[in-house]
Amino acid sequence: MSRTRIMFVCQGNICRSPLAEAVFNHLLTRRNLTGRYRVDSTGVSAYHQGENADPRMRQVAAGHDVVVSHRARTIGRDDLDHNDIILAMDRSNYDILQRNAQTPEQRGRIVMFRSFDPGAHGQLDVPDPWYGGIDGFETVFTIVERTCRALLDHLERDTTKG
Ligand code: 4NP
Repeated sequence: MSRTRIMFVCQGNICRSPLAEAVFNHLLTRRNLTGRYRVDSTGVSAYHQGENADPRMRQVAAGHDVVVSHRARTIGRDDLDHNDIILAMDRSNYDILQRNAQTPEQRGRIVMFRSFDPGAHGQLDVPDPWYGGIDGFETVFTIVERTCRALLDHLERDTTKG
């Protein structure tokens, strides 16, 4: 069976999307599902290309036993074809992805990450923590973990339906 390829996208690829990648991989390991998925993350801006994730994000994740080891990279055109589901962290990321999509197939793969969040209550953006304090990073962790669990449950339900 081919792997489901999922990609998380935020602005800088140093806070929200590398966290989502790490949390999703952590859940896969805990549930013995690593072979079923290929997980990646990118940013819509090139500003932090090649950098490690933000130290504040890594610190908060480590406090929850999650290791964030991704290096930032910028989305390329191939990414829209080489993934099955592309998860935008906020509306601005979503709009940029949609503008870059060339085909209806590419457009159809792009969804808002928090559309899977059972606690979203209509708030579909993962807040950008970059300019704020450590509390904002904890909030991002809570949202990302809750949403990744629901996303994995959703994808596994789809798979078992066959
Ligand atoms: P991210 O956070 O999109 O979650 O990686 C940000 C990181 C850097 C900047 C903005 C958001 N920045 O403006 O440099």
